Amino acid sequence: MKTVGIIVSVLVVELILLVIFVNSGLYNVSTMSPDPGFIHWIFSNTSDNSAEHYSKGIAVPALTDSSMIVEGYGHYHEMCETCHGAPGVERSEIGQGLYPHPPNLVHSAKEMGPGRLFWVIKNGIKSTGMPGFGKTHSDQKIWAIVAFLEKMKDMTPQEYAALQNPPAAEKNTELKSHRDHERKRM
Ligand code: HEC
Repeated sequence: MKTVGIIVSVLVVELILLVIFVNSGLYNVSTMSPDPGFIHWIFSNTSDNSAEHYSKGIAVPALTDSSMIVEGYGHYHEMCETCHGAPGVERSEIGQGLYPHPPNLVHSAKEMGPGRLFWVIKNGIKSTGMPGFGKTHSDQKIWAIVAFLEKMKDMTPQEYAALQNPPAAEKNTELKSHRDHERKRM
């Protein structure tokens, strides 16, 4: 009984100290001041294990369709590049200013499977700056982004840059189909 009493008193004192610390404002929330090792360990492991746990059993569709990959590039270029960068593309000022830092997704895509990539993109990660795109994007669009990431992990900076400036012949074809479409509407 005595031991239980001692344990409860220690826990109560620790709780009071925690409340005093939280109210003191002494913990530095500045992004310029990295978290101490054990706080970083708690957050990054909680996040990794959570994504691993909740993404288990997600059925992965075929991700090799080229129109899907092109669509995924469009979303990636528009929504992700600013924070994560890309082969040959630095993270923007926004991406550089975030803490925790947005990782290089070439490495992430090599390390994690498509199901986990899908889960993270759809749900986001609380309190990190990583948005959840499930509110604004259908599963089909999110799988297109995953299909592109699977391709991007083996891309050179030149191959990535070529996606933004497709060869002239390709541009003409796109332009032609756009014009045909406009003519039909008139
Ligand atoms: C506003 C900045 C921001 C944008 C925009 C953003 N992310 Fe993130 N993302 C982050 C941050 C910060 C993390 C790191 C979170 C952490 O450390 O737990 C992250 C983590 C991730 C991870 C987990 C990587 C890993 O190795 O654990 C994936 C996958 C990811 N983002 C994909 C994307 C994709 C795809 C897009 C675009 C559809 C995107 N993100 C847009 C900030 C962003």
